Amino acid sequence: MCGIVGYLGKNESKNILLDGLSELEYRGYDSAGIAVLQDKNFSIYKAVGKLQNLKDKTKDFTSEGFSVGIGHTRWATHGKPTELNAHPHLGENSYVVHNGIIENYQELKKELQDAGVAFLSQTDTEVIVHLFEHNLKTASSAFDAFEKTISTLEGAYATLLVTKGEEETIFFAKQGSPMILGTGKNGDKYFGSSDAPLIGFASEAIYLSDGDYGVVNNEGIKLYNDKKEKSLSFSKLSENRLSAQKDGFRFFMEKEIYEQSDVMSDTLMGRVQDEGINFDEIDPSLFEGINEIKLCACGTSYHSALTASYLFERYAKVRTSVEVASEFRYKEPLLLKDTLFIVISQSGETADTLETLKMAKKAGLKTLTICNVDNSSMVRLSNASILTRAGIEKGVASTKAFATQVAVLWMLSLYTAKLRNSISQEEITKQLHTLREIPKVLKVDDEQHERIKRLSKRYLHGHGFFFIGRDVFFPLALEGALKLKEISYLHAEGYPSGEMKHGPIALADPELFTIALMPTELLYEKTKSNVEELSARDSTICAISSKKFDKSDDDIFITPSDHYMLEFFEMMVALQILSLEISVRLGNDVDMPRNLAKSVTVE
Ligand code: M6R
Repeated sequence: MCGIVGYLGKNESKNILLDGLSELEYRGYDSAGIAVLQDKNFSIYKAVGKLQNLKDKTKDFTSEGFSVGIGHTRWATHGKPTELNAHPHLGENSYVVHNGIIENYQELKKELQDAGVAFLSQTDTEVIVHLFEHNLKTASSAFDAFEKTISTLEGAYATLLVTKGEEETIFFAKQGSPMILGTGKNGDKYFGSSDAPLIGFASEAIYLSDGDYGVVNNEGIKLYNDKKEKSLSFSKLSENRLSAQKDGFRFFMEKEIYEQSDVMSDTLMGRVQDEGINFDEIDPSLFEGINEIKLCACGTSYHSALTASYLFERYAKVRTSVEVASEFRYKEPLLLKDTLFIVISQSGETADTLETLKMAKKAGLKTLTICNVDNSSMVRLSNASILTRAGIEKGVASTKAFATQVAVLWMLSLYTAKLRNSISQEEITKQLHTLREIPKVLKVDDEQHERIKRLSKRYLHGHGFFFIGRDVFFPLALEGALKLKEISYLHAEGYPSGEMKHGPIALADPELFTIALMPTELLYEKTKSNVEELSARDSTICAISSKKFDKSDDDIFITPSDHYMLEFFEMMVALQILSLEISVRLGNDVDMPRNLAKSVTVE
């Protein structure tokens, strides 16, 4: 989804802006642009497609000395991905960048057009800059005009505006979409949609809240909310950029698959203890008076929620339901106070999930966020949060975020089980031992990777894939299918194995590939019969199991284990690698698949 960067200072702003935009590429985009204001002149560059196109266009441009600059990667919502629709958008003397959606832009546009303003683009964003210039005609200062402009906007926005006449200033506002403001050691100012562009430049940052707006210039930062000046509260930023590099892997996704074992150790650290699960960040009182758990999320995070629903009911014996956030928002749901509302999100910024969290809070429910990004909107909004500790995830196709979400939720189910006395200490001790084994099964075996790579050449065509499994292997099947769809653009569906004969099996033929998840430690015989039914109808079967299945065409063998969750994690890695290698063979952009964005900050 759109990314924003901004810079005010004496360094070469072009490099800082382009570098910052590269850090935001993972969010997904289809065009990019920068505007630099120096010596009362704007230099503006825009390009459709990859950031490299913008880099090529700006190769002869330099901005030595003091300047202010804003930059943007656009993920098209209103209007096609063209240069005209790319940000920054121009008024007469000002430029603006924006992430989010201005919901009342049509009314505002009409009013401005009636007043004689000409619009160049099809975007909602352009109203911001024209409205600002319109207000400037009657306002006592540029700041007053900006404040008035912001108060007129409805919807979601993180926006930066620069204007002639205030050449040493950047105006900013945040509502609904993320924005971070950093300062460097020499007083330089930086903006970013996440902290990634700031790391290495800024030493501390303010994570702006909804309703925040203000102005930065050489004299400092003025921050307001609801027309009142706010004090500045800075957090220290990490100075280590290394974690965001590819470390010799071909793709971030590949690096992130290989990292899973290490990050999982971090996820478990201090939480898996000798007697039980410990979460320093939550208080057991969070579960007092709770008779139901509702999990809400989107995409891959929804799949971890579904996985968790089996574990909560099985171990904690608590009624658990799972909701797709975009559906939940508008279904007029029954929100009862004895429900613990848990949102799951890698980014903590997904608009639909964030909205459901607001709904639950408003209805007076206790809320908990499971998230990978500290200080994200969801973390800040909920009563309590547990961080997954996966580190920055850059590949659009989520991998290590999913693995760590499932581990946190599994631990949480045991934590809740202990509070509710629904599980014996013996069983807890056994599971603590199993949890400690996860990093081991997540270690990618090079030979296994090579085998899957060779196998992948047989799965590049056909009319579709069924990923099937039972119990927690059903959400894993959904996740396997989503991974494949996202990066290979092949049609794939996840199904509970037992559902096939209720319709989908009609599609079975040799060109229909079944990826069968066949754990030996959970419902093996039941799953086996379902796979046999597909094999009897000539579907091509790739079985993932520790046991040889005599009706399979291909096999991916995993290590025999004594717990189904260890089989779950090892199969997850195999599915991730299979998708990755199919995508590579098809020549796709693994890290930035078409049409997708890493952080979906619009509904
Ligand atoms: O940041 P979130 O976990 O809230 O994001 C939710 C989905 O957009 C995300 O999981 C998406 O499905 C990924 N591309 C999956 O690989």
